[in-house]
Amino acid sequence: MSQLFPEWANQVPRRLLVGSIVLVNTIVFTVWYFFSPEFTQVGYMPEQPVPFSHQIHVGKLGMDCQYCHTQVYDSRHANIPATQTCMNCHNQIKTDSEKLALVRESWESGEPIEWYKVHMLPDYAYFNHAAHVNVGVGCESCHGRIDRMEVVYQAEPLSMGWCLDCHREPEKYVRPVEEVTTMGYVAENQIELGLQLVAKQNIDAPVYCQACHY
Ligand code: HEC
Ligand code: HEC
Ligand code: HEC
Ligand code: HEC
Ligand code: HEC
Repeated sequence: MSQLFPEWANQVPRRLLVGSIVLVNTIVFTVWYFFSPEFTQVGYMPEQPVPFSHQIHVGKLGMDCQYCHTQVYDSRHANIPATQTCMNCHNQIKTDSEKLALVRESWESGEPIEWYKVHMLPDYAYFNHAAHVNVGVGCESCHGRIDRMEVVYQAEPLSMGWCLDCHREPEKYVRPVEEVTTMGYVAENQIELGLQLVAKQNIDAPVYCQACHY
């Protein structure tokens, strides 16, 4: 039997083993290196065609996110509001403001305003807003203090490691569903409340690869 394989064949398993250790290390290193926050888009803040301010509309006027981002509880994507939503007020408020010229133009022509996207995951990563906000993951946990932003910027890394940090310990973050859009929410005892919410809602945040990549 031993003659079936030449002598060097004994080396094969070892070489495979060494090879795969090197490969695994390379992957771990690459992931660790490129996923640390310096290599993500934290702080990305494109200049928008209209100087719309969340600080004014949410922080000062106290508007709820849902007034404009109406679909965030129902769908994968949070919609950006149509010009009509702005005109609910701006057909009477600041009607001759230079800063609103493009909004009025869009209203008259019917051409939507072309807002620049701030947050963007690569195509191979799946994310769904409804799945998160309906179990009490607050907008703030992923987008930061939007109510203080004159111009929206990316506050969190949105990297795989960042997603998994919460998926492994969601009790550190979840809040009552009615507080999802609240900015500056602080629970008296987050871990205690978090564990209760996780149990009550059977929260099970996936960490297996196919949940986000398929
Ligand atoms: C009066 C309407 C309005 C309200 C209220 C509002 N938003 Fe927005 N939001 C917009 C518009 C318009 C944009 C696109 C322009 C921009 O990025 O500033 C936007 C953009 C965003 C973005 C960036 C989207 C991207 O391109 O990645 C996030 C995140 C966001 N809003 C979160 C919130 C949160 C959280 C709240 C509540 C605390 C909120 N918004 C309340 C109108 C609104
Ligand atoms: C668990 C994290 C998380 C939570 C909670 C969350 N978002 Fe997002 N949001 C994201 C990610 C990630 C993206 C980028 C999605 C993409 O590129 O597919 C995004 C994108 C957006 C966008 C741009 C349009 C889109 O869907 O790509 C808006 C607007 C937005 N979020 C608003 C909100 C509002 C309002 C809330 C709360 C009601 C909220 N988000 C809660 C992570 C989150
Ligand atoms: C619920 C009413 C309401 C809605 C809806 C609304 N706004 Fe406003 N907006 C205001 C008010 C009130 C002010 C003035 C606030 C101030 O000066 O303190 C304002 C101010 C502004 C300004 C600054 C104008 C200036 O000359 O200083 C811009 C730009 C603006 N809004 C854009 C938008 C856009 C874009 C939308 C739609 C995505 C929108 N607003 C939706 C009420 C609204
Ligand atoms: C702050 C906490 C938090 C962050 C950050 C977060 N998640 Fe989640 N995610 C959850 C929780 C909690 C659940 C479980 C929901 C349930 O059990 O119904 C969940 C569930 C999911 C699911 C399964 C439900 C579905 O949509 O199919 C996917 C996929 C997912 N998250 C993707 C992501 C991705 C991708 C990111 C990063 C861009 C991310 N999540 C960031 C808390 C978070
Ligand atoms: C909770 C969601 C989630 C889970 C679970 C998850 N990933 Fe990811 N993964 C992401 C997101 C989001 C990105 C994009 C990160 C970015 O843009 O920086 C990513 C990126 C990657 C990349 C990087 C590709 C590149 O551009 O370098 C690889 C490789 C990867 N994932 C493999 C895996 C493997 C293997 C598993 C299972 C052990 C896994 N992922 C589980 C969310 C997830």
